[in-house]
Amino acid sequence: MRQSSGANSIFLGVKVMDNERKKSWEKRLEGEPDKLAVDFVESLSVDKRLYKYDIVGSIAHSQMLAEQKLITRDEFKQIKDGLVEISQEIAEGRFKFDKTYEDIHMAIEAALIKKIGEAGKKLHTGRSRNDQVATDIRLWMRDEIEILQAKITLLQKGFVKLAGKYAEDVMPGYTHLQRAQPVVIASYLLSFVEQFERDFVRLKNCRRLLDVSPLGSGAVGGSTLPIERKSTAKQLGFADISYNSIDAVSDRDFCAEFIFDCALIATHLSRLAEDWIIYSTNEFGFVEVDESYCTSSSMMPQKRNPDILELIRAKAGGVYGSLMGMLTILKGQPSGYNRDMQEDKIHTFTASDTVRASLDVTYAIVSHTKFNTKKISAGLEEGFLDATALAEYLVGKGVAFREAHGIVGTLVAYCEKANKKLAELGLDEFTQYCASIEADVYESIGAGKVASKYVTEGAAGPKQANEQIAYWNKQLAKR
Ligand code: ARG
Repeated sequence: MRQSSGANSIFLGVKVMDNERKKSWEKRLEGEPDKLAVDFVESLSVDKRLYKYDIVGSIAHSQMLAEQKLITRDEFKQIKDGLVEISQEIAEGRFKFDKTYEDIHMAIEAALIKKIGEAGKKLHTGRSRNDQVATDIRLWMRDEIEILQAKITLLQKGFVKLAGKYAEDVMPGYTHLQRAQPVVIASYLLSFVEQFERDFVRLKNCRRLLDVSPLGSGAVGGSTLPIERKSTAKQLGFADISYNSIDAVSDRDFCAEFIFDCALIATHLSRLAEDWIIYSTNEFGFVEVDESYCTSSSMMPQKRNPDILELIRAKAGGVYGSLMGMLTILKGQPSGYNRDMQEDKIHTFTASDTVRASLDVTYAIVSHTKFNTKKISAGLEEGFLDATALAEYLVGKGVAFREAHGIVGTLVAYCEKANKKLAELGLDEFTQYCASIEADVYESIGAGKVASKYVTEGAAGPKQANEQIAYWNKQLAKR
């Protein structure tokens, strides 16, 4: 027997004729597998978390085999009981995972055969690991999507609750990170509820597309045995079966799509993180991130660093990596199943785990964050947040908008030189630049006042924010 590993493993291709492989599914291969190859090919360390789904899938498959008289009722019962026992052993940490069994599918099947003998050898009738694994990931993903959706909903509720505290408080709205128009804090917070709502819906769409059972597609061409695919699909709660066996074992679109959905969640989280990192600086001082979500410095005693937010921001990078990894695995793969596909799980799991953790910690941060409304309103009249409103006031006086835009631009330049705010200009100063300006102008300017003057639907004023809060409270309560 050749026990190669390490340096001499380059002789992987050498045939050793007098040796028989021990595993029943490897009888056509000669020679012991190289240890390096065994370690390299295994996915058990990653896919063991699919064990529940693998077992549920196998129970459904064996029940169908019994219905189709491919195995006896008694054999089905032995298989089912054996699988339930294995499931308990794994759950309780009593199961010995042996990497030489490659993956969770082989490890469970081997354990079953060891446990119940002959009947166990019939479990894999009319099935391949190719349709089996495609089924398992779908089952896993259906649950995972529900978990992610629940976390998204919780976070949305956190935002709505926080928004409720700041429905009337005005802050600067930014474009290009320059002061743009006044908005209420609530509207700013609710903008995240909208983003996460789309993530929620995206996951729902992803779930809808993946909801077909590939089981019974075999390795790639189906089976000559009377496998009743609709039976297993129904037992496993799939909406339908897949209708092309080649596609069924080749398809990992849903993994790429799922990871993309995770990537967008991570993107939205990173935007919030970036905002609050900036907003919690001394320079801004808009938000106070609770100290339980800050760290200090090993050297500088005064520091209160937003490391948790920084990590939320950074973790988006890892999720994008998973997305690129997944897409690249799929690119240029020939039709049918290829072992490349085994690498789908590491990216899919990593993306989801990362996003789950980020959603959890973000919810905790959102639930404990305060806005420093005093500091925000103290600086609110800086930066001419009311300039657009003044231009719109002029439109109301019959001035063409492009004209009004120019007049206000000139007024702003004048204010900067005179070190004044627009609302501090006297009527005589206003009329120097535009004769249409009257005393009522003062009702339309001042950043604090402008937000309550917004009339467009979805605007960032207190009226619209309160409407949105009511809408979301009702909507999210249904989930
Ligand atoms: N562990 C494999 C995967 O995750 C299972 C399928 C292996 N099939 C095969 N024919 N080698 O994709």
